[in-house]
This record gives sequence, structure tokens and C-alpha cells, in this order.
Amino acid sequence: MIVNVDGQLHAVTNRCGDTPLPLHFGTVQGTELRCSWHGCRYDVRTGKRLDGGTEHLSVVPVTIEGDEIRVAVGVEPLEACPSTAVRAPAPPAQPGSEGAAEAPSDEVAGR
Ligand code: FES
Repeated sequence: MIVNVDGQLHAVTNRCGDTPLPLHFGTVQGTELRCSWHGCRYDVRTGKRLDGGTEHLSVVPVTIEGDEIRVAVGVEPLEACPSTAVRAPAPPAQPGSEGAAEAPSDEVAGR
């Protein structure tokens, strides 16, 4: 869900706290989003609940590129991504080299 606060876009998940209920029926005043179901209030900039509850909204990165608004949904934090580097395959064994110890390769290849 994207909220425009004075021309600044903020994106949060469209689900109130731990419930499956959507927030898009709610109202926005300034940076405050009020859920239509039971009145929970959130700061759309931080996702923090403003009325004492412990739940919070997930804040999603949003950018504007040309005519498009891009929202990064379904991505994991950068720290959780596996490395894009892969270990190069070992060279094929040469005749007569059976049993010879191979030094491990520290080379990595990017994709
Ligand atoms: S579902 Fe949003 S306040 Fe209850």
C-alpha cells in the first residue's frame, strides 16, 4: 500500500498488524494511518504503531523511476541474500595425475 504524504511516497504492507485485515479502507492524516477495522494507528514512515500496541507495519522501499512507481515487495534484506559469486569448476583431471593432491582453488567467478 502506497501512501502519499505531502508528495513523499511511503509504502507499507497492506495488512493491519498481525491480522489478515487490509488497511486500504483506512484513513490518512499527515503521516498517521488509521485502520478502519478497530482503529489502530500507525506512522506510515516507520510502520510503528502510535496507540500503544506492539504490532507494526512492514515498511517497503519505494522509488519513482520516470513514470513508474516501483515498490520492492517479495525481497529479502540484502544481508540475507546468498552471494552471487560461485566457485569455478575444478579443471579436468590430467592423465597420470590420479592420486595427485590438488590445491584447492580460491578462484570465484561472478555471474
Ligand atoms: S484490524 Fe486494524 S485495528 Fe483491528
